[in-house]
Amino acid sequence: MQLSTKHLLGIRDLQASDIQIILDTATQFKEVLQRPIKKVPTLRDVTIVNLFYENSTRTRISFELAEKRLSADTINFTASGSSVSKGESLLDTVNNILSMKVDMVVMRHSASGAPHFLAKHIPAAIVNAGDGINEHPTQALLDAFSIRENLGSLQGKKVAIIGDIMHSRVALSNIYLLKKMGAEVMVAGPPTLIPIHMTEAFGIPVEYNLKKALEWCDVANVLRIQLERQNQVLFSSLREYSLAYGINRRMLDSLSKEILIMHPGPINRGVELDSDVADSKQSIILQQVENGVAVRMAVLYLLAGKSTNL
Ligand code: CP
Repeated sequence: MQLSTKHLLGIRDLQASDIQIILDTATQFKEVLQRPIKKVPTLRDVTIVNLFYENSTRTRISFELAEKRLSADTINFTASGSSVSKGESLLDTVNNILSMKVDMVVMRHSASGAPHFLAKHIPAAIVNAGDGINEHPTQALLDAFSIRENLGSLQGKKVAIIGDIMHSRVALSNIYLLKKMGAEVMVAGPPTLIPIHMTEAFGIPVEYNLKKALEWCDVANVLRIQLERQNQVLFSSLREYSLAYGINRRMLDSLSKEILIMHPGPINRGVELDSDVADSKQSIILQQVENGVAVRMAVLYLLAGKSTNL
């Protein structure tokens, strides 16, 4: 099984068959991760650098663990404490690292398009671990894997992506992926946090009423309010946001069916999700994190182009 691409820059560039291959391969790696020895020699001769120019907990640890489970050699680079503070450019930094014989680059950057820029200039395979407000492809893949695991398939499932759509790379990657895989997608939230022309651009409905969105969906993928990416006031206060768009137990109990609750993390507890929702049995948030390792193992394995049995 081979991907149609050398890099994973975004879901937009993938074919449905690529997504299917990644999810199916991740299923095999999830089985590996249930074994007493959770390690395979698959990427024993591969060196991977994790290049993080922006903060991360889940994605960085998940990639590092995926690499270690595949027996790759890993190097972790964070911009803080590096020569970036002396003015070294992204390209110079990466070329210096590659000259030490690195095969793959996992990169998170606050600038949208940074991994696409690198892909034009360096020979190594690049995995986008989140670029600005553009895409976060492995998050969408692990979200899809988790939906598939709980609901059997993506085809025909109704997924509402709720909250700060405007500043979210998770939203964009999820929209591309879910539509390619035959799911129905809606975005919901306050008008100031949803870009205009969503329906024209993506052919998906927009809902400003949270209760109606929750009544419609099988899965609510709830996004974090990204205060660090907002340079103007887009809602009056976190308390008001929470009153209109926060999901609480009472609201879930009033729905006609039980829905799955997802969140990419980190959660603003009491803002977009109350704790008794985030920690309930309807929530698969920690399952998403667990699945992230298997999905990232699949992506790295497939991009490395190794033919070894898992
Ligand atoms: N979901 C996610 O990208 O989390 P981190 O920012 O902690 O990596």
